[in-house]
Amino acid sequence: MKIATVIGARPQFIKAAVVSRAICEHNKHSGKKLAEVVIHTGQHYDSNMSAVFFSEMRIPEPSHNLAINGSNHGAMTGLMMQRLEEVFVREKPDVALVYGDTNSTLAGALTAAKLQIPVAHVEAGLRSFNFAMPEEVNRVVTDRLSTWLFCPSANAVDNLRAEGFFSGISAPGGGARIHKVGDVMCDAALFYRGLAKPSTRIESFIAGTPAGFYLATLHRAENTDDPNRLAGILKALDEIARTTPVVFPVHPRTKKMLSQAGLETKYLKITDPLGYFDIIALLGSCKGVFTDSGGLQKEAYFFARPCVTLRDETEWNELVEQGCNRLAGADYDRIIRAEMDISACKTAFPAGIYGQGDAGEKIIGILANGF
Ligand code: UD1
Repeated sequence: MKIATVIGARPQFIKAAVVSRAICEHNKHSGKKLAEVVIHTGQHYDSNMSAVFFSEMRIPEPSHNLAINGSNHGAMTGLMMQRLEEVFVREKPDVALVYGDTNSTLAGALTAAKLQIPVAHVEAGLRSFNFAMPEEVNRVVTDRLSTWLFCPSANAVDNLRAEGFFSGISAPGGGARIHKVGDVMCDAALFYRGLAKPSTRIESFIAGTPAGFYLATLHRAENTDDPNRLAGILKALDEIARTTPVVFPVHPRTKKMLSQAGLETKYLKITDPLGYFDIIALLGSCKGVFTDSGGLQKEAYFFARPCVTLRDETEWNELVEQGCNRLAGADYDRIIRAEMDISACKTAFPAGIYGQGDAGEKIIGILANGF
């Protein structure tokens, strides 16, 4: 059986690393071998947004790099589809494996569905219920086209139920096969936390801040492309950084928008984007996280760090319900109050919300048995 893995953006490299490792483990112990062809769309291309993850996490080198990036959504998705179609026709995979909610996910799912190649979606069932987000459009369409829907949480399964996925909705391949397998990012956090070697720069930053620090990231279009939201968040983070160091690895989109908006900060410790091992090291030592990233909200939980989400809603509602995550939007006062809250109250982190760290193994077991 041949699996075509389609990835393109930073969080997908982390997720695919887990599943690629599960494929290798499966092949060691089973007579029924699985072949994996990794296709990198090229959506993320800077070495600190892409290559660093491949080398640190030992992801198999992509067999195909389509080098498509930087254009508008329609052009980017369309170009990806055109090139993916050529690759799928040549490689003839039995299944297309796609991750998350990016334009690369959508392009992979749409192209495969049109060629009648079954789609397996890792991180199925997540919803923000906000169609202004490109990610929501990508998720909904990808789920609808998938034969295998691998859900990370009970809420994700409920979302699919509410959309009729359990009441005979037709799906490619006969019917949707929905499995709650847990979150592959939980597997990654558990596997790499003992192995990760941070850079000396990050090691010395941590050693130099014995009283603690916060980790902040920002890249969602809804925040970066709205000057008022961007200014509100930046002002609040800078105010927090006046008394507690805030390390802020800046995504290329955010860098561009900050310079266009002429926004400057005084106290934030700004760095280029960091690799996974540096992020893990920071998560292991920080007092808390401020972010609009989906992945980092969960990673904060895996490392038992309180999180303030710089959005008005989240796909990871269970973390808000459990009190591990606070929604603060882009509002200066709400962000400042949330910081006061997390520094004053002890946050509890109930175990097991996203599984036991065996999501990759389960996904591969299900796919191998499905053929
Ligand atoms: C994309 C995903 C988002 C995901 C995020 C993870 C979509 C619609 N969005 O957002 O869901 O959370 O990745 O980071 O797919 N750029 C560089 N170097 C790079 C990568 C991007 O300079 O290595 C530039 C691009 O040229 C573009 C901007 O950054 O100008 C945004 O990149 P893009 O891939 O469009 O979306 P992200 O904001 O990264």
